[in-house]
Amino acid sequence: MGMRVIALDHPLVAHKLTVLRDRNTHSSTFRQLADELVTLLAYEATRNVAVAREEINTPVAPMLGTKLTNPKPMVVPILRAGLGMLDGMTRLLPTAEVGFLGMARNEETLEVTTYANRLPEDLTGRQCFVLDPMLATGHTLIASVNYLFERGARDITCVTLLCAPEGLKALEDALDPDLDVTVVTAAIDEKLNEKSYIVPGLGDAGDRLFGVVD
Ligand code: URA
Repeated sequence: MGMRVIALDHPLVAHKLTVLRDRNTHSSTFRQLADELVTLLAYEATRNVAVAREEINTPVAPMLGTKLTNPKPMVVPILRAGLGMLDGMTRLLPTAEVGFLGMARNEETLEVTTYANRLPEDLTGRQCFVLDPMLATGHTLIASVNYLFERGARDITCVTLLCAPEGLKALEDALDPDLDVTVVTAAIDEKLNEKSYIVPGLGDAGDRLFGVVD
């Protein structure tokens, strides 16, 4: 229990992340690479997904196999940038249910409010995969994770492209140590700058995904 952080150490992850970080990488390539990177992260993020034994017949013999079980996992992209991670995640978890959370931060009060919520009211026993590319201050993920646990989520895996050490610490400090949270990320960067951007980071993930910056 408590929080576990898994930073992937793999040459394909490092390569794709380096191209994502490069300011000369345009939106269409950025989207494609983010998608590929999420699929690699999804493989690690689903390591503890719930399965059950199931009797099947191969062409040769009966056997006891392993299949994903009910209740279905819940994939929750945080709007807007988390949408750029949805296809990469559901490619490996096609039976998952998808719910949406839109979180915005009031820049003056720093309070996080939910502006969009398309999730089942009752998440009892559900494993949730929260998609948010940048864990910067941690405020958005703290609010999202608390919200999902309040509705009964069993355990939560946050899938991110990049994390700042400050945000990881804030998330860990904010969590009840009895709850089960895993953060899977392509890398943990150096720090946050005064504008709460991750350094060296990759800039504004939403803008780069959706073409505001080309
Ligand atoms: N969100 C982003 O998109 N980029 C950062 O560097 C921090 C938060």
